[in-house]
Amino acid sequence: MESMRITIFGATGLLGQALVREWQGDDVTALGSGDADIRSEGQVQSAVARHRPEWIVLAAAYTDVDGCESHRDLAFAINCEGAVHVGQAAARSGSRLLFLSSDYVFSGLKTTPYEIGDPLAPQSVYGQSKAEAEKRIREILPAACILRTSWLFGVGGKCFPEAIVKLTASRKELEVVNDQRGSPTYTLDLARAIIQLCRLGASGTVHATNRGECTWFEFATEIVRCAKLPARVRPTTSDQFVRPAKRPAYSVLSSSSLQPYGIVMPSWQDGLRRYLIERGV
Ligand SMILES: NC(=O)c1ccc[n+]([C@@H]2O[C@H](COP(=O)([O-])OP(=O)(O)OC[C@H]3O[C@@H](n4cnc5c(N)ncnc54)[C@H](OP(=O)(O)O)[C@@H]3O)[C@@H](O)[C@H]2O)c1
Repeated sequence: MESMRITIFGATGLLGQALVREWQGDDVTALGSGDADIRSEGQVQSAVARHRPEWIVLAAAYTDVDGCESHRDLAFAINCEGAVHVGQAAARSGSRLLFLSSDYVFSGLKTTPYEIGDPLAPQSVYGQSKAEAEKRIREILPAACILRTSWLFGVGGKCFPEAIVKLTASRKELEVVNDQRGSPTYTLDLARAIIQLCRLGASGTVHATNRGECTWFEFATEIVRCAKLPARVRPTTSDQFVRPAKRPAYSVLSSSSLQPYGIVMPSWQDGLRRYLIERGV
């Protein structure tokens, strides 16, 4: 297979680091916010013009979901206008684009997995900024690949399993919400799926998460069990644990859009076990 030029925006993030690590055999340019701030049209244009990539992966975002509630302008400047800048630069240079979106674009009112064509009804500023970015990118690049994922965990940044491991160092009992369901996703597994999708020339909207679903309480229980942490996990409700941004009660994403590409994601429990080994727990 001929080698491709790839540019990754957000290469210093949780997913970006996994992408850089996994992406062998192609010519990868890894950009953090210090290399190109996606809020600057000029910086994005010159980075893309310099590398002339076949594929751009846009994993850069303002991902602090609660922070987005109090910094709406910043959330839209990075997650929406920034994405537009990258979409425009991709269109200008003839690059393909894979844009990372989120399960938080959905309302969470469904009780069966969200399909790619389900209506978007974000409940938070973060979700709104991603939903608007999806719409704008579709207008600029109808053939872009918009990939929605959920509940990322991996080494090299803040994530839920990392927080649980740290908390149990000082607490013997943890309360975790049991009324939000989703699919935890290991960044290495997602990175592998993204690489395959680019190599297969993917376009349209796809959902990619680890297989299976759980609540945050069930996820925490499995982390404590697998890592043999000396702590008890107790279920609580979102009402008892109020946060600035509303989270969807149910945000499991259907995997049917991955089937045409022959991609089968490992289960989240399998991903978690490999994460814990990688992290040395
Ligand atoms: N984390 C999740 O659970 C989750 C769930 C669903 C979807 N997603 C989506 O998946 C993607 C990757 O998420 P992640 O968790 O890997 O993110 P992350 O760890 O928070 O990393 C964010 C990345 O974006 C970059 N960035 C932030 N502001 C920027 C700016 N103004 N200009 C250029 N780059 C900027 C950061 O660069 P520096 O570090 O160099 O500043 C960093 O590389 C995002 O699109 C996110 O919305 C994440």
